[in-house]
Amino acid sequence: MAERKKITIHTLREMMEKGEQITMLTCYDYPMALIQERVGIEIILVGDSLGMTVYGYDGTLPVTIDMSIRHTQAVRKAAPTAFLVGDMPYMTYQVSPEKAIENAGRMMAETGCDCVKLEGGEEMADTVRALVRATIPVMGHIGITPQSMAQMGGFKAQGRSAEAAIKLINDAKALEEAGISLLLVEGVPPAVLAEITERAKIPVISLGAGEKAHGQLLIVHDILGFFDAFVPKFVKKYANLNATIHEALAAYKDEVKTGAYPDEKYVYGMPQEELEKMKEMLKK
Ligand code: KIV
Repeated sequence: MAERKKITIHTLREMMEKGEQITMLTCYDYPMALIQERVGIEIILVGDSLGMTVYGYDGTLPVTIDMSIRHTQAVRKAAPTAFLVGDMPYMTYQVSPEKAIENAGRMMAETGCDCVKLEGGEEMADTVRALVRATIPVMGHIGITPQSMAQMGGFKAQGRSAEAAIKLINDAKALEEAGISLLLVEGVPPAVLAEITERAKIPVISLGAGEKAHGQLLIVHDILGFFDAFVPKFVKKYANLNATIHEALAAYKDEVKTGAYPDEKYVYGMPQEELEKMKEMLKK
């Protein structure tokens, strides 16, 4: 792929205006980010889903700002031109707008990300306003919001009643008025997403909410078939890495056990005269 120019919020707005779909994936480490940068994924999210996909927690709540920053730094190194979104972990922005500025400021300054993402609707509008005033661009996230799993009673589609749908549409509006640059809508019926997108003047990204958006997001470990502890209905698997890696590791184990690995193809040679000299020296 030809080298691409840095993806900025202006690039994303232009894509939205031209009707060109925006691609977005999660990413947590350097090697995967290298591939996403080469493929040309426009937005990379270093999601707090790393709590599950990388650290094996049951949910996202144990993820700290330091963990998020460390992974976002690794991804930025490999993906200099992607629009990089740093995810704000649980309780790093809910306590007060001041705390949010402190933590989001660290995320921006220490990782070089292009914006931060936070979960929540209208109730987050004041915090969004404070962040934007402090020069920090924000991506909103409504619908299924994993940090409120306890309150939502599990990983459940949102906005399935008329009242709940209207609340989501109002949340989207309130966040946009507060100054978000992008909006992520997760796990709501496509008809609700369509209403949100139709009213939005900023790029709206869908995660499991259908096609009526300016772009799509999926969790990279899900689409690669690398993480299968829990696979939501909206995930399409594009590979089965679990099986591929399992097969490769089993083959390695077998070859070590049988001595098939390593043969001379996989070792460093030594000139014959040096070998003989070494043996002579060892005799002394
Ligand atoms: O952490 C994450 O990957 C996310 C997505 C579920 C949107 O926030």
